[in-house]
Amino acid sequence: MARTKLRYVLAAAGLLLATGTAVFAHKEPHSIDQLKAFEDVFMDQVKAGDALFHGDGDVEKKMNARLSRTGMACAMCHPFASDTHPHEFPKFQEQMNTFATLRDMINWCIEKPNEGEKLGDNSEAMKALEAYIYWSNRNSKLDPGRH
Ligand code: HEC
Repeated sequence: MARTKLRYVLAAAGLLLATGTAVFAHKEPHSIDQLKAFEDVFMDQVKAGDALFHGDGDVEKKMNARLSRTGMACAMCHPFASDTHPHEFPKFQEQMNTFATLRDMINWCIEKPNEGEKLGDNSEAMKALEAYIYWSNRNSKLDPGRH
């Protein structure tokens, strides 16, 4: 009996060690070069999103997006992307009368006030807009569901 118990304990310890190693492997610190490369990729997206948000037609074309047919850029109604409260999503959104993510809200603005073409969730333009909006709010505390 005692031996069986010991076997279980050893097996559990072995499992912990095995998974522990796997978990730690992901936590190895990145090199300065790696961090710089990640940051560069991120900031490229932020810059593209900034351009889209401010109505840069060239970037829009390059990304195959049509964000507006009214000539209104996001920034004309939202002069500060930092005021678009991405940290409060997902939440019940009154305009849509439904529970919505930030992407749903971005698409609502594209389709309704802007009369543009809805973006695919994984489209380049959606990712860039999301990167820019989150970056603009980078020190906000996550507060999903808030109004
Ligand atoms: C003609 C004006 C207008 C334009 C242009 C516009 N929006 Fe909006 N936007 C609104 C209104 C109205 C709301 C809903 C009221 C609110 O929640 O602030 C809103 C809300 C939002 C919100 C949620 C804000 C919150 O606090 O819940 C986000 C995010 C947003 N818009 C992103 C965008 C993006 C990205 C674009 C450009 C593709 C854009 N909007 C273009 C009028 C506009």
